[in-house]
Amino acid sequence: MSGDPKSSPEAAELAAEAMRHLWWLRDAGVRELSPEGPRRPVPPAAPAAAAAAVPTSAYSLADKGCGSEPLLAIRTSLGECQRCKLHSGRTKLVFGVGDPSAQLLFVGEGPGADEDLQGEPFVGRAGQLLTKMIEAMGFARSEVHIANVVKCRPPGNRDPEPDEIEACEPFLKAQIAAIRPRVIVALGRFAVQTLLRDTTPISRQRGRWREYEGVKLMPTFHPAYLLRNPPEKKAAWEDLQLVMKEFGKLPPGRGA
Ligand code: URA
Repeated sequence: MSGDPKSSPEAAELAAEAMRHLWWLRDAGVRELSPEGPRRPVPPAAPAAAAAAVPTSAYSLADKGCGSEPLLAIRTSLGECQRCKLHSGRTKLVFGVGDPSAQLLFVGEGPGADEDLQGEPFVGRAGQLLTKMIEAMGFARSEVHIANVVKCRPPGNRDPEPDEIEACEPFLKAQIAAIRPRVIVALGRFAVQTLLRDTTPISRQRGRWREYEGVKLMPTFHPAYLLRNPPEKKAAWEDLQLVMKEFGKLPPGRGA
């Protein structure tokens, strides 16, 4: 535990809640906010005082998965996380990657060895397959967003444990609230079970539209499973075609 109240899951949830509230106000046409009503003129601050008032962060908008203020706030609140035992074995925390306001979000399980080294989700063999799947759907990898249930690599690529998922889940939820995708593709058992709280086997959940907090969610097989079971790629492609249809995209070879 870091002991820093600013970096707790509750703080991440609060930050996401505040952002949802601000978006709602912006969408409702509110252009100015003040706790005291109309703004009074503020005397210009002395340069040193102004610099001291700017919060500094170890992270920036240029960091992977942090490309918007809300995502950067979540990454900052995650910090050099020690909330679960996975922190002790990680090389890099893997936050996310991609367009910060992507319409399509892929959620995987957790980083493997390559991701742990590079600090980016889905860059190993399963990642290369995921990239091919994304491109076959008519998207560039940079156009979508990719995140995981747990942000640190489980040792030896074992399954993430319930306490690890519980510690990390508020940050995934906050990421989803910040990105506000139109569709989530949940890759494999852990993503589906975590987001939907449904322990039905993935083989029976895949290919059927579900909903997560008002966002359409498509469960499908994890690319690592597809590497081990290539015949299942056909079923996964059927699931992804349902997602393409949602975006008005036709499968390759069918025009457009
Ligand atoms: N598998 C996942 O679930 N996520 C990654 O980032 C890589 C492999």
